[in-house]
Amino acid sequence: MKTLFTGIQPTGELHMGNYFGAVKNWVMLQDSYKSYFSIVDYHAITIEYEPAEMQKKIFDLACGLIACGINPDTSRLFVQSEVPGHADLTWIFNSVTPIGELERMTQYKDKSQQHRKNINVGLLDYPVLQAADILIYKAEVVPVGEDQVQHIELTREVSRYFNRRYGDVFPEPDALLTKTPRIVGLDGSAKMSKSKGNSIALFESREEIWEKLRPAATDPARIKRTDPGTPEKCTLWSYHVLFSPEAEQKEIHEGCSTAGIGCIDCKKKLLENVMNEFDPLREKYYTLQSKPQEIRDKLDTNAQACRQAAAATIREVKEKMGLKPLWKI
Ligand code: AMP
Ligand code: TRP
Repeated sequence: MKTLFTGIQPTGELHMGNYFGAVKNWVMLQDSYKSYFSIVDYHAITIEYEPAEMQKKIFDLACGLIACGINPDTSRLFVQSEVPGHADLTWIFNSVTPIGELERMTQYKDKSQQHRKNINVGLLDYPVLQAADILIYKAEVVPVGEDQVQHIELTREVSRYFNRRYGDVFPEPDALLTKTPRIVGLDGSAKMSKSKGNSIALFESREEIWEKLRPAATDPARIKRTDPGTPEKCTLWSYHVLFSPEAEQKEIHEGCSTAGIGCIDCKKKLLENVMNEFDPLREKYYTLQSKPQEIRDKLDTNAQACRQAAAATIREVKEKMGLKPLWKI
């Protein structure tokens, strides 16, 4: 069985973009691979955050992923910083990665624009930690949304740099995208994202979701109710494609293009279908929230297994590098 690794930052609530771009796919794939799902807190600390809230965010994300269908008994769902090997391997990879490769990363450029007062080394080194996450388990498959493809390409390069210098240890992993690798934001901007405030979170109430859908911009050319619209120019249509049954999609497409239905009707239908998809997840999520000890135990057990797998790779790497491996952990 091949190994699959992917990570998600505990920086806010799970949203529709995470779900359709990534998490739903992870759930489908998890049993076909030896699967690792990491809550990457060491990545999250590269931007401003509130230390007092970190453990709650990690716990909420663990509950969210399990509610979506990640099985913590058969897949290794764990917290990154609880496996020190990731940071260890990052340092080793730092010494084979040219700085120029990191400086050209789109996410680094975006984030250093957004966080001008806190352009720390971690922000630049972020993709090297990501490479270490993946390669420490020798994962070959990395299911992610489109925004992460560049980082996976860098991972392949880091793997090559290391192997060329020290001998063959690491595979060259591939990114695996879904049919919907990029979900647009509610404001119509290129990407739905926690930090842009243009997202619909998975566990929001019906009222909260409606408060976001109701004012959302639609096809700008459809000004009056009687103007026919072009669904392909409407953000909400792109959501119908995700949530609505095919027969209903047809009706909506037809209705919008002929001015048969108005934008509010269309939004109401969307709301129903969003709730149909998310209601069962939200119910599971709140049940899990009442079992913090159970969740903690599962994360602990999984981190323990990951520490062992990671230590085996570190041992192999250090031997190749002429460093003395630790035989006892
Ligand atoms: P993050 O929340 O940034 O840690 O991302 C977790 C996963 O969700 C990654 O695989 C991302 O590529 C994916 N993802 C985040 N936002 C979107 C989006 N708007 N569309 C598609 N995938 C996304
Ligand atoms: N950088 C990824 C994101 O923001 C999260 C991540 C960290 C990751 N390590 C990873 C994704 C390893 C895939 C593999 O979405």
